[in-house]
Amino acid sequence: MAGGAAVAPSSSAGKRQDYPGGLTLFVFMACMVAATGGLIFGYDIGISGGVTSMDPFLSRFFPSVYRKQAESADGGNQYCKFDSELLTLFTSSLYVAALVASLFAASVTRAAGRKWSMFAGGVTFLAGCALNGAAVNVAMLILGRVLLGVGVGFANQSVPVYLSEMAPMRMRGMLNNGFQLMITLGILIANLINYGTAKIAGGWGWRLSLGLAAVPAAIITVGSLFLPDTPNSLLERGRPEEANRMLQRVRGTDDVAAEYDDLVAAGEESRAVTHPWRDIRQRRYRPQLVMAVAIPLFQQLTGINVIMFYAPVLFKTLGFGGTASLMSAVITGLVNLVSTLVSVFTVDRAGRRALFLEGGAQMLAAQVAVGALIGAKFGWSGVATVPAGYAAATVVVMCVYVAGFAWSWGPLGWLVPSEVMPLEVRPAGQSITVAVNMLMTFAVAQAFLPMLCRLKFLLFFFFAACVVVMTLFIALFLPETKGVPIEDMAGVWKTHWYWKRFVNDGDDTDGHGVDIEMGCVGEAKK
Ligand code: BGC
Repeated sequence: MAGGAAVAPSSSAGKRQDYPGGLTLFVFMACMVAATGGLIFGYDIGISGGVTSMDPFLSRFFPSVYRKQAESADGGNQYCKFDSELLTLFTSSLYVAALVASLFAASVTRAAGRKWSMFAGGVTFLAGCALNGAAVNVAMLILGRVLLGVGVGFANQSVPVYLSEMAPMRMRGMLNNGFQLMITLGILIANLINYGTAKIAGGWGWRLSLGLAAVPAAIITVGSLFLPDTPNSLLERGRPEEANRMLQRVRGTDDVAAEYDDLVAAGEESRAVTHPWRDIRQRRYRPQLVMAVAIPLFQQLTGINVIMFYAPVLFKTLGFGGTASLMSAVITGLVNLVSTLVSVFTVDRAGRRALFLEGGAQMLAAQVAVGALIGAKFGWSGVATVPAGYAAATVVVMCVYVAGFAWSWGPLGWLVPSEVMPLEVRPAGQSITVAVNMLMTFAVAQAFLPMLCRLKFLLFFFFAACVVVMTLFIALFLPETKGVPIEDMAGVWKTHWYWKRFVNDGDDTDGHGVDIEMGCVGEAKK
């Protein structure tokens, strides 16, 4: 998508920007595996909120939360009834594990190849599912979540790399957003499963919810064994003939010499940068570094995971019954999925900035409305009975908010940082983006329940204020990247009112020539 394969190169280098070959069965397989990677991530995001609102689960593992909830069921302070450090730790432990694992997975992915990282992720994830499904105490639950997190870390690190290296250039962007689409599908499936398992008499439905994560995990584990290595990875590991043969198979044509030469050149250039973590701090990479940190940071400060993790809990706070709460989570999950499709089909026509700005304005309006609706009813005391129509109106406004996120910060939060990063520092930049995302997901998950208890309805105004800041940030600092070939991306900063002073300093560090040289394979090393 970002590749803009048809656009003629603007530099004198005049490199070709497209290669022969199309979508083969191999590439299709790669998509499937990537999709399962998105599914397991999404399933994790969606499953914990529903499970932590199920009474049998709470009474067994978090009895103090269960008691507080029961006491406040018919009155009392609604804002604080779910506030428990242990309960939050259950949800957020996964993200700390994923953060650490994603940094570690980068070297496995590089040394052993992408498929073995996927395999390692799948196996660890399966162990986590088993521990969670069979849990008899909180320790088993949290250890299981940590293993799931390690699995997610490995999968999120290796699957997108694999996908980008396998995908024909023209389909790279579409596949990128497809990955986010699968995350949202995973969330929705998890919400539906929670809705079904909560009704199981005997109170063991939560075991099924947690255990069923094994299904997508088994697919990625077994699937990874059948996947071929990427040509890039074979080259990286010193197997050039195999790499050439693999490239021909993957592209479905013998005419791969141009792409192969570029892969070799990119590999050499990339190896020449021996300290990407140090180099990325150089002044000339400042705009990209700022985007790599700020975009995932802001993505999480939209507050989206408050809805994704805690929607059922939040709806219970609003006075919905258990089943109605889970149903409402299904509704927001569906809105999330469908709205992501809007982004898939418009991002290359409307552009990134338009989606960011519109999505920001929509989220802002919805957050202010949710805060006002909850504040008007519950006030500062947190005591109220909410009429059904009022609660339904709140759900509708929350859906407006989710839709705004799903066609802006959701997919763009992953797409933009990856498409602006030059090849030589791309792996380091990508790791920063993943790590900041996981760290902020953890922080929001950890802070939400205590913040709701203390800030009460004002919490929604807090997120609204964050949306104002991030929308201004986009308006002022993000140049449009729609239709810009990835190898010409350096140019967007050179004409930007603020960033031009960093990249036009006149040293040889603007790296434009290098970008052009490596352009065609630039994205392959993502
Ligand atoms: C975010 C997740 C979020 C999901 C919701 C992703 O882009 O990284 O944190 O839960 O979107 O669809």
